[in-house]
Amino acid sequence: MRRVEASAPGKVILFGEHFVVRGYRALATAIGLRARVIVEESRGGSIRFISPNLKLEESISLNLENPIHREFEVYTAILRSLKSRGYTIIPHNVIIDSDIPLSAGLGSSASTSVAYTLAYTTLHDSPLREDELLEVSLEGEKIAHGKPSGIDVNIAVSGGTIVYKRGEKPIRIADVNIPRGYSLLIIDSGIKRSTRDAVEHVLRLSGDYWSIMEYIYRAADAIIDDAIEALRAGDMRRLSTLMNINHGLLSSIGVSRLELDMIVNSLRESGALGAKLTGAGWGGCVIAIIEDNIIDSITSRLLKYKVYRTLINASGARVDYSTL
Ligand code: MEV
Repeated sequence: MRRVEASAPGKVILFGEHFVVRGYRALATAIGLRARVIVEESRGGSIRFISPNLKLEESISLNLENPIHREFEVYTAILRSLKSRGYTIIPHNVIIDSDIPLSAGLGSSASTSVAYTLAYTTLHDSPLREDELLEVSLEGEKIAHGKPSGIDVNIAVSGGTIVYKRGEKPIRIADVNIPRGYSLLIIDSGIKRSTRDAVEHVLRLSGDYWSIMEYIYRAADAIIDDAIEALRAGDMRRLSTLMNINHGLLSSIGVSRLELDMIVNSLRESGALGAKLTGAGWGGCVIAIIEDNIIDSITSRLLKYKVYRTLINASGARVDYSTL
């Protein structure tokens, strides 16, 4: 049986989440956690989705009706988009296996969308150009997010570290310099939340109070220039202070919550140089920059949470294995 396995990285937004939805800039980096999707031809006459992590399985017909499990809707949206581009829909199994926690702000839905689109079109012997891969994957993202800015699929495709502005080609920061002795920690609060709801809340608030909110959006955008310089210079103290400022701006638009503020403050009090929520907020993850010599004392204060110490600037979407 013909079979393709593709993967795409998760991401953390270092600066600018939410502000990016209204056309301001954000800065994101790909992380070491990846989503892997296997697509294999089958004789069953249907499309079978299998998620061992979620312990879910479901088959749909080649007519692409909506699956019962919402988790699989992204894949039918992608297939519909591919069909409209002339791809035939063939019977196949889709096996989804991801290291990226769900609904935690680390881009899990974008990464699985990109990995699936890449795997299916490779199985078809007609992989998409990069811009088409982005467009089709975004159709999957819209199911999960409503009005995605596109940053999550862009970083899942390109990997690396990018400055993203809606409607423009992302700028890749090739010379990121994280000096030895510092780590980026990701702390998952374990609180699941909907990106779609948080984005809608911020759009409503910013629409209703734009004469005030515009300054917050512009402040968030100004952080990006300083952050690029700090990343290039390896100035972790400056980068961390910018993260603290960015967390304050996110609080002011109402996407933090007590648990996230407690994690952020506990990290700072125990010596982290900077900490902020990442992604849509209301739950999900906090990121922090810390000096490696205090890693043990910091993690011992966070036993309640899942903590990831992962590389950043990771590689983008790729086909990992195929039997074509
Ligand atoms: C979600 O990872 C980031 C948000 O800015 C939404 C988006 O950009 O689509 C909250």
